[in-house]
Amino acid sequence: MAPVDPHSFTESTQPATTHLALTLYFDFPSSTIHASALFTLQTPHSGPFFLDTRSLTIHSALHADEAIPFSLSTTTDPIKGTLLTLTLSNHSSFILTFSTSPSSSALQWLLPPQTCNKTHPYVYTQCQAIHARSIFPSHDTPARRIRYSAILNIPSELSAVMAANHVTRRPPRDDDAAALASLNLNWCSQDRVVEEFVMEQPVPPYLFAFAVGQLGNREVGPRTRVYAEEGSAVLDSAAKEFEGTEEMIREGEKLFGEYDWERFDLLVLPPSFPYGGMENPKMVFLTPTVIKGDGSGAQVVAHELAHSWTGNLITNKTNEHFWLNEGFTTYAERRIVEAVQGEKRATLNVGIGWRGLNEEIERFKDNLEFTKLKNNQQGIDPDDVYSQVPYEKGFQFLFRIERQVGRSAFDEFLKKYIAKFKFQSIDTDTFLDFLKENIPGIEKQIDLVLWTEGTGIPSDAYEPELIVYKTIVSLANEAATGRMPGEDEVADWQGQEWELYLDNLPKSIEASQIVALDSRHKLSESKDYEVKVSFLQRAISCGCKEYYGEVERTLKAVGRMKYLRPLYTALVKGSEEDKVFAKRVFLEARECYHPIAQSVVVSIFSKHM
Ligand code: BES
Ligand code: ZN
Repeated sequence: MAPVDPHSFTESTQPATTHLALTLYFDFPSSTIHASALFTLQTPHSGPFFLDTRSLTIHSALHADEAIPFSLSTTTDPIKGTLLTLTLSNHSSFILTFSTSPSSSALQWLLPPQTCNKTHPYVYTQCQAIHARSIFPSHDTPARRIRYSAILNIPSELSAVMAANHVTRRPPRDDDAAALASLNLNWCSQDRVVEEFVMEQPVPPYLFAFAVGQLGNREVGPRTRVYAEEGSAVLDSAAKEFEGTEEMIREGEKLFGEYDWERFDLLVLPPSFPYGGMENPKMVFLTPTVIKGDGSGAQVVAHELAHSWTGNLITNKTNEHFWLNEGFTTYAERRIVEAVQGEKRATLNVGIGWRGLNEEIERFKDNLEFTKLKNNQQGIDPDDVYSQVPYEKGFQFLFRIERQVGRSAFDEFLKKYIAKFKFQSIDTDTFLDFLKENIPGIEKQIDLVLWTEGTGIPSDAYEPELIVYKTIVSLANEAATGRMPGEDEVADWQGQEWELYLDNLPKSIEASQIVALDSRHKLSESKDYEVKVSFLQRAISCGCKEYYGEVERTLKAVGRMKYLRPLYTALVKGSEEDKVFAKRVFLEARECYHPIAQSVVVSIFSKHM
């Protein structure tokens, strides 16, 4: 037995799936997908063949109409899910038929009242880190890449998008769903339509993505359309916010090489989307909270765009090397931001990240393993240890190398690294070997082992020195002596400056100062959720009850975990009354959260209560 990934049942001795042909029937009334999947294996295989599943019902396993024996394990691993074992006899392909469950951890099914336009249902995926297995049986590890095609049968008043090429929208045909015949679906009914997609590039399963709803779109560039619910104001404001996308793609190409995914479309999801952005290839998913009306949402787009090279072309082999995805992408994102918005914006991002990294090191002070770039995740749910460490310590490591070798040499190295490993899944050692090979002697100048395997923040990390950054940090520190910023000092502040200021306020600050800050600058009502949540988190920690109404509205309006985590955590660390309040709000709001966000809030509660 040689598992390739602590988060998957995939066995190294069993062949990879090279292609998957999916047929999906969306049944909105029961929040279920009935499906078939034709697997093509790299080599014929005899004996046990393992696949990951979670909350799936398997109906049949067939090869040319002959049944293949299969069984689901009787016990379910809380992290990996349920093992599906097929017994193959020199098979190199087979068809599975199966159904998802309404509690599938990758899927959020929204009833019409939970959507923006209130008239049509909606469903969307979030597969990273290990949720693809709750949609289809798979080798759900980034160590294995697949190509796929998909036929989606949906109500005809809706449309579908995927992180893949759209082939056609057409009436359903009987022969589409031969494998699903025994399920008696209304496949060809008048009110159904089929959308076909193909993904020709091999991708890790966590990049599988679709959304089905009443979607409209606007063209914003030669390879970019913005999609959102039709009839909501979001579409127009998103088109405006993201009009600079093509310029960013061009900057990305200058820095990292050709853009390999043809299209770069953007889908703005309902507010319950649990992340800021998800780098689904060809079709990035975004929270509507990034649309602030001032173009600052471009930073999140820059990040997801950067994943087109770092993450989607070169992928971490397992989640234990997640920094290879997020650290590289944070570095690449800041280079793109610097190129299009200038050094000041990029430096403020570095500064916000620096503060975030220091806070995370504090959060993990009793669990130092997760302050390491490369860490052991045996028996660990990646959603439970998600943090800024892989992003910001990873960024710091790469920036340290850039400072050592100089920018132009590092740029050349990055281009070479991407060209060498594209469409591969690699680990930390593979990166280090390539680094040492291409920058001889680097291990004598930088302690590579300390950076990748050590805990905490190495002393040669870098806190920004730019004057805009230092001014804001010292202004925040002065709050300890009661000094608050004057009107003239904050006159030209945007969201980032406020975020940096709030994040650096000393712990000892008085409740009266929080109230004074808000009455002057209306931070609790900011349209910028980064600012609003940063402020509300402070307000909770200081026990300022007057803001709890706003806290409740916020927790019920958005499902982005970046906002849920700090607010619920501040509440459960507070008084008994705060805990009761947190529980009540969660009970009332949880239906509106994505299943991944629901579990994260549950685990915050179980840790602190
Ligand atoms: N790939 C991540 C989101 C993710 C990570 C989903 C791990 C599931 C598991 C995405 O690229 C990301 O980092 N999003 C950030 C954006 C930010 C850094 C600009 C987010 O959601 O906050
Ligand atoms: Zn990312």
